Amino acid sequence: MDTVTTIAAVRERVRAWRRAGERVAFVPTMGNLHAGHLSLMEVARRRGDRFVASIFVNPMQFGPNEDFAHYPRTPREDERMLEAAGCDLMFMPDVAEIYPAGYENSTRVEVPRLSKILCGEFRPGHFEGVATVVTKLFNIVQPDIAVFGEKDYQQLTIIRRLTADLCLPIEIVSAPTVREPDGLALSSRNQYLTAEERRIAPAIHRALRVAVDRLLQGSDDYAAIEREGYETLKRVGFRPDYFAVRTADDLSEPQPGARELVVLTAARIGRARLIDNLRVSR
Ligand code: PAF
Repeated sequence: MDTVTTIAAVRERVRAWRRAGERVAFVPTMGNLHAGHLSLMEVARRRGDRFVASIFVNPMQFGPNEDFAHYPRTPREDERMLEAAGCDLMFMPDVAEIYPAGYENSTRVEVPRLSKILCGEFRPGHFEGVATVVTKLFNIVQPDIAVFGEKDYQQLTIIRRLTADLCLPIEIVSAPTVREPDGLALSSRNQYLTAEERRIAPAIHRALRVAVDRLLQGSDDYAAIEREGYETLKRVGFRPDYFAVRTADDLSEPQPGARELVVLTAARIGRARLIDNLRVSR
């Protein structure tokens, strides 16, 4: 595996692969890799002849009071894991390489509506930051395939939309959420949990499961299902931002009888803000 830090070096490697007719898969990350990321790498390895991973903690997607400065950074460990996962190229740029004029002055990509709802309501500017950096990374790497985790369901939906809207010739592939045995979705932010908070955290998955069961039993009372999930999380010690039932493909509010749904939640506990979701087909 090669490790490079410049856009020019990525382009040079990828150009050579393309000339040889090889398909390039790409997994963008913010590093601090765990088994959830490795499952994305596995999909990339299977789907492409070559696979590129980026490690970049993107300042544009963090709010002023969020954890950008403290976000866990483990580059040496990440490099070791990527090498073991069969990665061909690791791109680890610094902030000036991605935002030469400063990220505050950079052109932004905004996906209307989708970036303002759910997490977007509680993290203003977050999804503009994600959409902007992903578009830049797509332009740098120019992959055939890009792999994203279903845990970040709203992010995945936004990336699918921007790829379609901007006519980018990239296939977006999703990979299922990887969970601890007790149901907690893997996340770099789980390490902010104290032992007591970690004990409480699987309540998120349980609350989502209850909501899914109600929907599968035929309930169309989405408001009651959302209220129940929200109150359950509050009762066990979370400060939920939202607990929502939405249409799976565009996150709009579902009509009664809707068949393809997703239940999503974001909830805070201590220093951590955890997100999770479950899809329902009925
Ligand atoms: O999901 C993430 O890790 C980030 O939001 C992403 C897609 C790498 C953009 O910074």
